[in-house]
Amino acid sequence: MKNVLVIGAAGQIGTELVATLRADDRFGTIVAGHTTRTPLPDSLLQSGPCECVDILDARRIAEVVKTYNVDTIYNLAALLSATAESKPLAAWNVGVNGLINTLEVARELGCAVFTPSSIGVFGPETPAVMTPQDTVCRPKTVYGITKVTGELLSDYYFHKYGVDTRSVRYPGLISHETPPGGGTTDYAVEIFYSAVKGETYACPIAAGTFMDMAFMSDAIDAAVNLMLADPQRLKHRNSFNVTAMSFDPEMLAAEIRKRKPDFSMRYAVDPLRQSIASSWPDAMDDSCAREEWGWQPKIGLSEMVDIMLSALEKKGAGAL
Ligand code: NAD
Ligand code: SER
Repeated sequence: MKNVLVIGAAGQIGTELVATLRADDRFGTIVAGHTTRTPLPDSLLQSGPCECVDILDARRIAEVVKTYNVDTIYNLAALLSATAESKPLAAWNVGVNGLINTLEVARELGCAVFTPSSIGVFGPETPAVMTPQDTVCRPKTVYGITKVTGELLSDYYFHKYGVDTRSVRYPGLISHETPPGGGTTDYAVEIFYSAVKGETYACPIAAGTFMDMAFMSDAIDAAVNLMLADPQRLKHRNSFNVTAMSFDPEMLAAEIRKRKPDFSMRYAVDPLRQSIASSWPDAMDDSCAREEWGWQPKIGLSEMVDIMLSALEKKGAGAL
């Protein structure tokens, strides 16, 4: 049974990944690692071990790995694309030096490591449609630079030291448990909060800007299934394109209006987010993930809109 440490467990992915792993009997102890700045929700505090783990403190990572006999580390610590542009050195420190700390602990103590990469590895020179698995990665953001570096470092530790590193290039992730942490694709979550509150949504991304997206349950399946996949089948490791849908703000708003005819949206385009979004693919080719470890997303645009509206309506506009 796998014992897991999730670093960055309080974030959008971490909160749902920890809950899923704790409910899965193929896994043993699941340690939720968080910083003092980011408290965990009560549900995670009560359902298993939780430890303060700053990814910049390699000794602390090693201590927790030894205490709980951890054999798999999910490294989710990062500053997302828009936030990273205002703190580039901090983004590099957490994204790259934090990853090196994790890889060194993994090398010394024999752990496998999953570190998400992103559509952010691509840039304006990359083919935007059916973006291939192996193609130009010349990002224009510091976030993308940390992700390309992370992919290369992860492959380096696999080839040089045999550390079992694996990862996916996540698209924008849509979920209702924990709000997103400062990315370019956050609009595709925020729009639902406005729709449920009955407010006009001011969209920071221009009409006609297509980006890849996935619902969180599919993203969690990817994180679990890739780490359980037969290594003999993996021709790639760091990192696999994965996507479940591609849409622009108009398509998303139209889908919401099918359920909420009064929903209104206007554009208040944010130049930073727009320039990042324009440099990312419209729609990736994820056939390598499908062939090598069975990636098969279950939630498309219509199902995702149903789930988001009903989950947020259940919480109630007052609680949002
Ligand atoms: P998030 O911002 O919601 O969570 C990141 C977590 O990292 C936060 O809880 C933060 O407190 C923690 N963190 C920051 N600095 C830390 C440090 N020094 N030590 C330990 N933890 C620290 O992000 P997320 O959406 O959960 O993303 C997780 C990973 O997935 C990141 O690598 C991100 O780049 C990647 N990713 C996310 C998306 C998405 O749409 N959410 C898409 C592509 C890739
Ligand atoms: N959702 C992420 C971001 O926008 C993609 O990596 O930063």
